[in-house]
Amino acid sequence: MRNFAIAIDGPAGSGKSTIAKKLSEILDIDYIDTGAMYRAFALKILKCNININDISSLNKVLNSTIIDFKDNHIFLDGQIVDEEIRKNEISAGASDVAKIFQVREKLVEIQRNISKDRSIIMDGRDIGSVVLPEAEFKFYITASIEERGKRRYKELIQKGYNVNLNEIIKEIEERDRADSTRKIAPLIKCKDAVEVDTTNKTIDEVISEMLKIIDRRANNVII
Ligand code: CDP
Ligand code: CDP
Repeated sequence: MRNFAIAIDGPAGSGKSTIAKKLSEILDIDYIDTGAMYRAFALKILKCNININDISSLNKVLNSTIIDFKDNHIFLDGQIVDEEIRKNEISAGASDVAKIFQVREKLVEIQRNISKDRSIIMDGRDIGSVVLPEAEFKFYITASIEERGKRRYKELIQKGYNVNLNEIIKEIEERDRADSTRKIAPLIKCKDAVEVDTTNKTIDEVISEMLKIIDRRANNVII
């Protein structure tokens, strides 16, 4: 069987990373969470305390930052930052740095290098459109805003954060708007992507729906 790529895009909280991680285990291929990379750079900016509109300072930080995603862990300058990047304030920060051309250029290059010479499943906002336009399988994962808000709220409450559901929904709506309307690599549903609505579906139901689609097309594209 030759190498193949699965590209998963969609708005915040639609289930992309949970589903991509499970599919990677079932199909025994590597998984890359590109959102974690933007979050890691947002964390670095926060730590360095620089203004992202100061392009010269931003470039200096960018050039001296090492971001990698391997074995399901996100590394920032050699340190695992899995937990730190999930804080709510980092979500908006990630969306802000994701608008900057130089940041995207660097992270897309890392993402393409990781995907060379192996089968891969990658999730984000521009995977099917920019990072892996030749991917054999493309999915656009979505869910209603209420459901996505409730999911993120539940996650944060379980981690002990004191959050408000309406504020979480507003924050997600604002981030979706920014991600879909930005000039560079906005979130779009590619024409060749299959849309999967995960509202009121369990993770297992979504996985089995996607595996059926992959299985149906596999003979034509990867064998
Ligand atoms: O990566 P993305 O922001 O799209 O979503 P996620 O972090 O994978 O999923 C957000 C939350 O929704 C997680 O806690 C998942 O367990 C949950 N989820 C769910 O309850 N039902 C689904 N069908 C998909 C995800
Ligand atoms: O988990 P959630 O869906 O909330 O977000 P994420 O996938 O961790 O991504 C955080 C932010 O990074 C997004 O809101 C986007 O602004 C940005 N991002 C991007 O621009 N391109 C990607 N390929 C992945 C994430």
